[in-house]
Amino acid sequence: MKNYLVIGNPIEHSLSPKLHNYWIKQNNIHAIYEKSKIEKKDLKDLVLKIKREEINGVNVTVPFKNDVIEYLDQLSPESQSTQSVNTIFLMKDKVVGHNTDIYGFEAAIKDTKFDLTNKKVFILGAGGVVPSIIFALNKLKVTEIKLCNRTKNKAENLKKLFKNLKIIDWGEISDSDMIINATSIGLNNEDKMPFKFSDFGKNKFFYDIIYNPSETDFLKKAKNLGNRIENGKKMFIYQAAAAFKIWHKIEPEISEKITKILD
Ligand code: ATR
Repeated sequence: MKNYLVIGNPIEHSLSPKLHNYWIKQNNIHAIYEKSKIEKKDLKDLVLKIKREEINGVNVTVPFKNDVIEYLDQLSPESQSTQSVNTIFLMKDKVVGHNTDIYGFEAAIKDTKFDLTNKKVFILGAGGVVPSIIFALNKLKVTEIKLCNRTKNKAENLKKLFKNLKIIDWGEISDSDMIINATSIGLNNEDKMPFKFSDFGKNKFFYDIIYNPSETDFLKKAKNLGNRIENGKKMFIYQAAAAFKIWHKIEPEISEKITKILD
């Protein structure tokens, strides 16, 4: 039986096993997908296990998407550009790192039919998934990306990868068509956004990477002001589907039913 893993820390709340195991069963694949909480020191050993085919594929989540790179034999161009890996597989005896978060975000945005061409985007946060979002936004031909993060030097570091990024202070806002929450504010009820939502103006598109809860405070407040909103569930499903296709060479089902599995 083949075995697949999602690694991270924390990992308890990951819904990847639920989704992958559903698709595995649906396609009669003899495999299991599990989650594993690891420490940074475990990464080297884990990659060795992939090389020895003791593990057949790994998804990487916070905070190891960049840390794992040094142990891999090869990176896909997307992982190289973002310095971020979320999917690992063995190809011709080489352990390869790939990034399906980019596709996940891009496919999710395309589903919303919101045309990002020549639009201005504002990102809150500079965590693990942000390089993938910036890369996808550039592919979608936005004109401007402004970003702020509580810890400003983490935002400044992203400028090394993306020269077109403009960094502003945490608490300041910028005139934008789309506002993306990529912070973990919303997972914890006590955390609050550092701005007045009405300052963004009307008819904007508010997007939250968080999908559980399905409507964060960020999305609720934006919706109450008449803005368009979307959570990160589709992005999560599409990134998982792309990883599934790499490992099993099968396009898994994406439908209302699949979305419901994650509720
Ligand atoms: P990581 O930073 O380990 O990659 P993440 O969950 O991907 O983890 O990112 C968490 C993001 O939420 C970061 O941008 C973090 O800001 P810092 O870099 O300053 O830590 C942001 N964040 C979390 N809690 C926050 C809070 N209470 N106020 C503002 N930003 C917060």
